[in-house]
Amino acid sequence: MRYIRAGALPRVDAWWQMARYMGHWELRGYGLWAVIERSTNRLIGHLGFLDPEGGHGFELGWALARHAWGRGYALEGTRAAVHHAFTTLNRDHIACLIHPENTRSIHLAERLGGRLEREIVESGTRLLVFGIARPEPAA
Ligand SMILES: CC(C)(COP(=O)(O)OP(=O)(O)OC[C@H]1O[C@@H](n2cnc3c(N)ncnc32)[C@H](O)[C@@H]1OP(=O)(O)O)[C@@H](O)C(=O)NCCC(=O)NCCS
Repeated sequence: MRYIRAGALPRVDAWWQMARYMGHWELRGYGLWAVIERSTNRLIGHLGFLDPEGGHGFELGWALARHAWGRGYALEGTRAAVHHAFTTLNRDHIACLIHPENTRSIHLAERLGGRLEREIVESGTRLLVFGIARPEPAA
């Protein structure tokens, strides 16, 4: 959580964060999904899309509980999300904002085909912006 702008949230703020995420579905028609581990039916994280007013465009975000790392779940989930964006949502570009020291997330963005496009500073924090472009249709 140290690399996520809001950081780990106390319970009350987490409630409001959930309200924001659910409201995003209402306002945009897409948002973040819960990630459920099929074998245990446990909630292990969330991933999906955000595009808030004043944000950085159509953005893919992810976070899994630490015990669920290193098992390919993030790659599996985000690959499905990227496919959904380029097909069902008909998007042609996805941004991923990542702290420069968040090496696991940078690795994930690169495995999704992300290319470093620019750097921004938000609330005093330097962030890398990776872009995933919709693949050209096969000739
Ligand atoms: C970013 C984050 C989701 C990455 O998690 P992760 O476990 O490294 O990513 P994956 O679930 O895709 O797992 C990949 C690793 O699992 C291992 N793995 C095991 N089984 C696998 C399988 N069947 N398929 C793919 N990878 C598998 C591999 O070693 C792989 O590493 P590699 O790509 O170097 O080969 C996780 O670190 C996280 O939630 N971090 C905190 C939140 C955060 O930083 N969010 C982003 C803010 S920008």
